[in-house]
Amino acid sequence: MPVPIPLVIDTDPGIDDALAILLALASPEVDLRLVTTVHGNVELAQTTENALRVLHLAGRSDVPVAAGAAASLVHPQPERAGHVHGAAGLGGVELAPSPAAVDPRPAVVALAELLLTSPEPVTVAAVGPLTNLALLLRVFPDAAARIGRLVVMGGSATRGGNVTAAAEFNVWADPEAAQAVLGSPLPTVLVGLDVTLATVLDEGGIARFAAAGPIGAQAAAILQQYLDHARSAYGTAGVVVHDALAVTEAIRPGFLGTVRRDVVVDTGFGAGRGQTLVDRRTVSGAATAVDVAEQVDGAVAADFLVSRLSGLDRR
Ligand code: BDR
Ligand code: CA
Repeated sequence: MPVPIPLVIDTDPGIDDALAILLALASPEVDLRLVTTVHGNVELAQTTENALRVLHLAGRSDVPVAAGAAASLVHPQPERAGHVHGAAGLGGVELAPSPAAVDPRPAVVALAELLLTSPEPVTVAAVGPLTNLALLLRVFPDAAARIGRLVVMGGSATRGGNVTAAAEFNVWADPEAAQAVLGSPLPTVLVGLDVTLATVLDEGGIARFAAAGPIGAQAAAILQQYLDHARSAYGTAGVVVHDALAVTEAIRPGFLGTVRRDVVVDTGFGAGRGQTLVDRRTVSGAATAVDVAEQVDGAVAADFLVSRLSGLDRR
């Protein structure tokens, strides 16, 4: 077995964020070394508490959680996403409190220290607004330059938005930060709605890990409100677990088919604010180009998630 890849998840739990964390903990290919939290789906204090509780659910309260940005870089996020994730972010489920305390270091300090001291290249999966990553680039550029791979859940090349007609939530929540990160030379994979919307976790799959044991049952309980929302809002019999797909790509590099593209974020104040403008006319050779995920086998991705989550109760 090769040495596990050191992994950081930067996150705003969030239902699909919670599944993404559990997926990483269930996967021997990666060693989850740090969770950094950011404002987004709900307020920072809640995303941080949720991250601690999700790790504790999986018996991994040893993984440090460092709190990051409470607000976007420049302009406040207009609204949060409690109507999708529940007011407290985990679908109305109250997980047991963790015995662990929040790491005393600010998220960017914890992240910089890990990047500067890790003998192995670190993968960062950013599955919330990109505020922390933009701050890392500004405050600790030498540490940021050591990121081995950055896998971002965000944006959309061809599928429009999910908050506005143009913008995907994580980019819309902090477009200036997204531009700073996607316009940087960091080795970035962008996992957007083009591939996440094709990855649907259905009720049969949820039932499989729900039956595996208490951790799977809690993961399924967290999903129930999300499932109800999808059923009533879109008439679908399954949920799109965006962040878990990004973490799948972090765990298994190349799982998604990517093409190097130039990407610009609309930071204006018109109807396109938060849109990721992906130039699909050409394959880019620019140093700042982004590997945009354009192909996915959604059924394989959903099955991978179900299998791994089922395994959490068997460790
Ligand atoms: C993204 O927005 C959030 O609500 C989800 O957690 C995910 O990171 C999807 O657009
Ligand atoms: Ca998220």
